[in-house]
Amino acid sequence: MAKRIGILTSGGDCPGLNAAIRGVAKASYQLFEDAQIVGIMDGYGGMINGNYREMSKAEFSGILTLGGTILGTSRNASSEHNSGKYIDIYKAMAKNYQKMKLDCLVTLGGNGTHTAAGKLEPYGLNVIGLPKTIDNDIWGTEVTFGFQSAVDIATDVIDRVHTTAISHSRVLIVELMGNSAGWLTLSAGLAGGADVILLPEIPYDLNAVADMIYERYESGKHFSIVAIAEGARNINDDEDQDLKGKHYSVGYKLADELGKVIDIETRVVVPGHYQRGGAPCPYDRLLATQMGVHAAELIKDENFGRTVAVKNGLVTSNLMADVAGKTKTIPPDSPLLEVGRDIGISFGEA
Ligand code: F6P
Repeated sequence: MAKRIGILTSGGDCPGLNAAIRGVAKASYQLFEDAQIVGIMDGYGGMINGNYREMSKAEFSGILTLGGTILGTSRNASSEHNSGKYIDIYKAMAKNYQKMKLDCLVTLGGNGTHTAAGKLEPYGLNVIGLPKTIDNDIWGTEVTFGFQSAVDIATDVIDRVHTTAISHSRVLIVELMGNSAGWLTLSAGLAGGADVILLPEIPYDLNAVADMIYERYESGKHFSIVAIAEGARNINDDEDQDLKGKHYSVGYKLADELGKVIDIETRVVVPGHYQRGGAPCPYDRLLATQMGVHAAELIKDENFGRTVAVKNGLVTSNLMADVAGKTKTIPPDSPLLEVGRDIGISFGEA
């Protein structure tokens, strides 16, 4: 049975994308008599503008450990066509889907990607989603691929700044990615032994942060490590204030705020895209492969309109319509928050 499967990667890149692409392709070559993989370039942009190419089997070898995405990616599906005219992007994608003669489109992405993929279903497209993001904020899955690699990198940053913090008796603020959800900061903060962890889900009280640093100082620990997620806010910040501007850094903002209430030398480290770079860790290679293979199985069963997920440790899937438009943030009763509080970490709560 011949199958033509389109694959695209959309949103920010992360480790494990190529491993997942490889998983979908290799399993499809096994499951279908004649599988043809069509690579759609640069995310939904390629789908809109008809930028795609047939891929050869050989292209899926040697990419398991490769970071980024061999297909290229882009942030948003734009309604501005490359001709400069404004068009109905979903109609344009449906037209190109027919032109490519696809049986199915596999979209690898985060929240925005799944929302866009869901909008393609009413046009009659068979879509399967794969959950990638270093933020781990996709609804309905315990974990996304890319997350564990980023936790490893961010933990390493926190481990390494301890040296300078201890030697110089400084406060070291490490600003980590995560605009809406603080999973990466919470996990790396706990694993790296941060003393204060500030998350988008818990607006921080500056005095609580300062008190923690002083208490440590007075007990003989003359350094402190603060892990702060880029979406964290001071309780006094105006909720409507756009703090996510392009060159904005909550790490430096916190350092300025602390400078007014404590007298301890403070430095800021912002690893930025370093957290999304390089080879996937073994856990992500395995997860991305399992998820890619599961996507091929869903295609075989013609079980479309689903997003692959991990539930109770097993790879399964959710209805794409249930995933679209939602964000998985850290719940107030998260066991990780409890563990943090139990070992005396401050979350900046008053
Ligand atoms: O969604 C992944 C992510 O790395 C977020 O943590 C971060 O806020 C955002 O992407 C950065 O996006 P960009 O690479 O487009 O600047």
